This record gives sequence, structure tokens and C-alpha cells, in this order.
Amino acid sequence: MPGFELFGGEERKEVNDVLDTGILMRYGFDALRKGNWKAKELEETICKVFGAKHAQLVSSGTAALTTALSALGIGYGDEVIMPAFTFVASFEAVLSVGAVPVLVDVDDTLTLAPAAVRSAITPKTKCIMPVHMCGSMADLDALMAICKEHKLILLEDACQSIGASYKGKHLGTIGDAGTFSFDFVKTITCGEGGAVLTNNETTYIKCDGYSDHGHDHKGADRGAELHPFIGYNFRISELHAAVGLAQIKKLDRFLAIQKKNQALLKNILSQIPEVSFRRIPDPAGDSCTFLSWFLPTEELTRAVVNELKVQNILAGNFYWYDNNWHYIRRWDHLKNSVTLNALHPELKEKVIHHATKDFAASDAVMSRCISTAISLLWNEEQVKEKGEKISSLIKKMLNTQKATA
Ligand SMILES: Cc1ncc(COP(=O)(O)O)c(C=O)c1O
Repeated sequence: MPGFELFGGEERKEVNDVLDTGILMRYGFDALRKGNWKAKELEETICKVFGAKHAQLVSSGTAALTTALSALGIGYGDEVIMPAFTFVASFEAVLSVGAVPVLVDVDDTLTLAPAAVRSAITPKTKCIMPVHMCGSMADLDALMAICKEHKLILLEDACQSIGASYKGKHLGTIGDAGTFSFDFVKTITCGEGGAVLTNNETTYIKCDGYSDHGHDHKGADRGAELHPFIGYNFRISELHAAVGLAQIKKLDRFLAIQKKNQALLKNILSQIPEVSFRRIPDPAGDSCTFLSWFLPTEELTRAVVNELKVQNILAGNFYWYDNNWHYIRRWDHLKNSVTLNALHPELKEKVIHHATKDFAASDAVMSRCISTAISLLWNEEQVKEKGEKISSLIKKMLNTQKATA
């Protein structure tokens, strides 16, 4: 998800606009900022590009999730159903508002398995939070139907899927709210930053206040603003927003390169009958930041991962099953509920429950999955070279396996 790979004069120009005035803050100082409102401009551009009615920029994707959860009224005692394959930020945000993250299985879409969601619903469930991992989408029709049936909130964590869509609508704009991350390794980056997208004005107004100490942002005197509720400081700076403004103008170009490179790579790997690919509910909407593929067994997948390491080409190929950041198997801090301050005993008990919960269905998918990150810098020759290398390595391991069988 490498917006940073094509970084240059456009970003420098936007940042220099801000540095020239010295007004690094997004609010106030109207006279001194010489017409520069980078955060506001980026919010307006996000709305236009993604077709959302409202966008609230914040300091990170994690802050966006926390802000969205709060604005949607999710808090103490509420259960939020989310996938076992995500980034730690997704459950951190849920815990930070005092709610219970309920992690459930993923399927071959690498996102929430609708059947697992259904079985996890209790009277305390308030929200379903699909995470559109690795550039592509969850089965949103199925999840929306569950939300409708049980009157639940749908919050899309689209932090990894900027520019992807489902049936013609951008991910992040379909649920009650959605979130983007603009951290350094996302499709487009601000350095650090995030956004909440929503079509609901009330939710937006809450996000706007919550991310700036609860200020109501009414009138011209910031010091005289009222606080209809308690908020926090999750503000983005003008410098970060300026970088994002340059990056968002390049998004179409980034997506086109990703699509082309991913298709080339997929074509090469699909020549091997033993390789299968991630199921994508709407293939046309894949942002193609990764190509995620499966081998028939964990044993073979491990052998391939090992050979990628031996041949020094593992970088950019992710075996999430062993990864400390993205899959429940390695989240001992969550499973043991290791926090710096006390959690409510009821919440702690529900968090610790994940240590003994059965994730066999997810294990069966994740243990066979490798995701290859798609670079914006590859030319056609390089993609082919990369694909051929991976492909001959898989064939070698398949032959070794056959020989020893
Ligand atoms: C799925 C997902 N959600 C949330 C986040 C949090 O974003 P940030 O790093 O901007 O806090 C990330 C970041 O990697 C992510 O991948």
C-alpha cells in the first residue's frame, strides 16, 4: 500500500504552502494563514473522490476508528464483532471506548465470515466491524443483511482499502461510517493521519467535535466555543493534511498501476494448478494493493515461505499466519489482556476468552495464505521477473514434496 513510493514535488509544494505561513494548525488563525486550509480542502476532496457526504480528518486510522465508534454511540458493555485477521488497531480502538471486541473467524475472502458473525450475535452486540484487509472487500451484502435483521451498526474499517469499491460504491462509504488510514504505508499517505467518512450529518458533527476536545466549532472565536460533550485531541496538522492533498490527486494513477501489476502477477501464478486466489466479492472493486494466494496445505505454504527466505525474496511476501501484527494467533497481549491500567472485570473476562476460543476455520485459511504486496515502482519486466521467480520456487517445492511423498 505504498503511496510513499511516488513522492515528490507535488507533496513538497503543498507542504511549503503551509510552511510559508507558519500556521501548522487546522483551526483558527484565519488572517495569518493566507487562504491555506489544507485539512478542510482535503476533507472536501475526500468527499468528492469517494462519494461521501462528510469526511472528518484525524491524526491516525486508529483515532478514526475511536472517533467513529464514539460518534456512533458505542461504549461500555457493547460488543463489536470484528475479524480475527486485521491489524491490532481495530481491537485497540474498541477497547479504548470501553466496548468489547468480539473476534470471529474469517473465510477465503480474508475478511469476516458472515456465518461466524451470525453465531457471535448476543443481546449486547451493537456493531459489526468488517475490516477490508489487503486492499479488498468483505461480503458487504451479507453483512448489511445481518445488520438490518438485528438492527446493528455497520462500521467499515477500510484503513487498508482506500480506493477499493463494492458494487460501485467506495469502501468506507457503505456502512454507518467508515475509516481510512493515511499512515506511511497506506495507499495514499499523510505521513500519519486518518479519516472518518459518513453520510450521516449527526455522526459527522459528533466526529468533528470529538476529535477536537468536544469543541462545537461555532462562531469565529475558538476560545468562546462550547462543549456539548467531552472529546479528545485527535486533530491532524496542516502539514500532514498538505501531504495528503498531494497524494489524493495521484490516487487514480496509483490504482491503475496496482491493477496492471497485480493482473500480470496473477496471470503468472495462475499457471500453477495448485495455486488458488483470495475470493473477492466484487472483483472489479479490488484496489489491488496485494495479490493474496493460497497453496493446498500449511506444510507446502511453510516450505514456500522458507524457500522465499532462503532465496532472499521474502520481502514483500507476507505470511500473516506467523505475523505478530495481523492475526490472532500471535496476539498474546490481547489473549492475556495485558493492559497498563485496569480494565473493567467484565470486559477483561471477555477479552481473555479469546485465549481459548476456537479459530480453526481461520487457521485453515490463514495458514495457507501468502499476500504479495504490489509495488508502484515495478515495471512490466520486473513484475514478470518476480512472478517467474515465485512460480519456479513453488514448482520446486511441489516437486520436492512429490519426491518425498
Ligand atoms: C486494518 C487497519 N485498521 C486500522 C489501522 C490503523 O491505522 P493507523 O496506523 O493510521 O493508526 C491500520 C493500520 O495499519 C490497519 O491496517
